[in-house]
Amino acid sequence: MDNRLHQEFMPEEVIEEVRSRTDIVEVISEYVSLQRKGKNYLGLCPFHGEKTPSFTVTPEKQMFYCFGCNVGGNVFSFLMKRENWTFVESVQSLAARYGVSLPEKELSPREREVNRRRRRFEEIHELATNYFHDLLIKAPEGEPGRLYFAKRGVDLETMKRFRLGYAPEGWNGLINYMQERGVQPHELAENGLALERGAQDKRGGFYDRFRNRVLFSILDRRNHTIGFGGRVLDDSLPKYLNSPESTFFNKGHHLYGMHRGHQGIRDKGFALLVEGYMDVIALQNASYPNAVASLGTALTRDQAKLLRRYTQHVVLLYDSDEAGIQATLRGGEILRDAGMRLDVATLTGAKDPDEFLKRYGVEDFQKALSQVLTYVEFKYRTIVKEAPPHNIQEKAELVVQLAPDILKVRSPIEREGYERFLSLELGLTLEAVQREIARLEQKKPKNVDLKEYSQQKQVSSGKNRDNIKDVIFCKGDTPPPSPTVYLGVYRAERMLLRLLIEDISNLPKIKEKLGESFWKVSDHQQIFDYLNQEGRLPAHSEETVQSRLASLLLEELDISQTERLLEDCIKGILSTQEEERVEDLQARMAALEKSGDMAGAMALLKEIGERLKRGE
Ligand code: CTP
Ligand code: MN
Repeated sequence: MDNRLHQEFMPEEVIEEVRSRTDIVEVISEYVSLQRKGKNYLGLCPFHGEKTPSFTVTPEKQMFYCFGCNVGGNVFSFLMKRENWTFVESVQSLAARYGVSLPEKELSPREREVNRRRRRFEEIHELATNYFHDLLIKAPEGEPGRLYFAKRGVDLETMKRFRLGYAPEGWNGLINYMQERGVQPHELAENGLALERGAQDKRGGFYDRFRNRVLFSILDRRNHTIGFGGRVLDDSLPKYLNSPESTFFNKGHHLYGMHRGHQGIRDKGFALLVEGYMDVIALQNASYPNAVASLGTALTRDQAKLLRRYTQHVVLLYDSDEAGIQATLRGGEILRDAGMRLDVATLTGAKDPDEFLKRYGVEDFQKALSQVLTYVEFKYRTIVKEAPPHNIQEKAELVVQLAPDILKVRSPIEREGYERFLSLELGLTLEAVQREIARLEQKKPKNVDLKEYSQQKQVSSGKNRDNIKDVIFCKGDTPPPSPTVYLGVYRAERMLLRLLIEDISNLPKIKEKLGESFWKVSDHQQIFDYLNQEGRLPAHSEETVQSRLASLLLEELDISQTERLLEDCIKGILSTQEEERVEDLQARMAALEKSGDMAGAMALLKEIGERLKRGE
């Protein structure tokens, strides 16, 4: 049960307490082997492949930074990135580890009650999982379950890894087991594991929900059970019986196999989305730890969002029947809307991946996987198989039908690829296909998606910038004044921040000379705002901000020179500001000249002259 997700609020003092008790080197050492180097520790970066270490941890500042991939931050950002936890989850995990108690008193009575019920839900599910699992792996009554799984090639190791279980025949095995452990039948019913007999039933009382079924424990990322899927041992119906929806178990929010899948997806670089529990188990065993499945429902937006936290690329591998094809088309739409790159794999000669692997082996599976179709192509083929176009008009309709999918593609190269594909397939000119699709393109505001720090040759000839080679664009910095930040200014801002972090008493001087909103790099502005308001560093902020902070803290600083450094930075920024003002005046003057307002232009010229004289 991922209860951490539900608590969003975390008081500042608690965060501070956790941070002060945490040792970042100790935490990171569990993931990276670190070697001491002077004041810092060095290791191989866990976030990108490298052979020589450029991943640095500085205990003094409790930050990490990788010079190879520019990722950095504090212990919270490390866990968020490495474990894919939210900020609150990271705090909670460290709080548990370092013995910081989280505040109950901050919660409302209702929230406290929900928390209590969630803990009880977890407890009960832990007990139940162990009960079913022990039955499966060692009790005499578990024999039918063992036989079933043996028949399907599931070994003991796998049973343990997936915490598989067996619910024996009989009406109250679980109820009795739980009662001995202080869980009342009505509590079991509240948590979806027992049912109450109807009023007309004289026996009254409760009975076990899962009987004579093998059980698939649905595990969260911490390996805790949040629900069960129970399969019959033969062909009787219903084939599957699942835990009911509840406050703590929402099928549309989870994916089966995610307890290992989140790591596997990141390692493989894509998610393999399948239909069945057994598919996930078979694939994860066959070196596809990135296989996950939705829980017997059509793919939801929340599940797409969950996947999006780990990857941008999904390969859909649903059953090869008609239902599977329809589910692929529907699921595909949702994944595409979530901004995913999507490929579709198809298996021939077996109904699902589990059967395919058993019949043909991993090598053939690998081959099938290397022949994926893009979603657009898959959809095209599906439509054409149903209703091949006979004339130009039907071909045009087909293009129109696929246009929404093609218009979702962000990369122009990929988009042209699809257009070319359609033109070849349909025997139309590329131009015609493109025009048809463009016709359907809605007029969207162009968002300038500049790459952060993409470097370009300098364009300005302003004298203060003569020695600046590069121009830096910053993502998220919207004009005005301009998305361009010159390297000199960028460096000056960094140095200013570094000086501020080192010694907050520099703050009044900076504010006096430059004000509070002069920062050109929006991350810098954010860090400054925080320092300005709180007088210390933020424990939590966007990833880019954390990375910047970390890299700032690792920058060498000549403390004997701070006074001069501060002066230089302020001067540098002021002179660039002045230059920009002059440029602005020049532009306005040119506009006035053009419009024939000579008097206005002359006035501006005068002002420009005065400013230039002052600046010398
Ligand atoms: N499912 C369900 N309820 C059903 C049928 C199916 O919840 N009555 C869900 C289960 O999550 C199941 C998935 O849909 O894993 C796929 O269904 P299916 O292909 O029928 O089952 P498999 O898991 O492939 O089962 P098996 O290989 O044992 O036939
Ligand atoms: Mn199946």
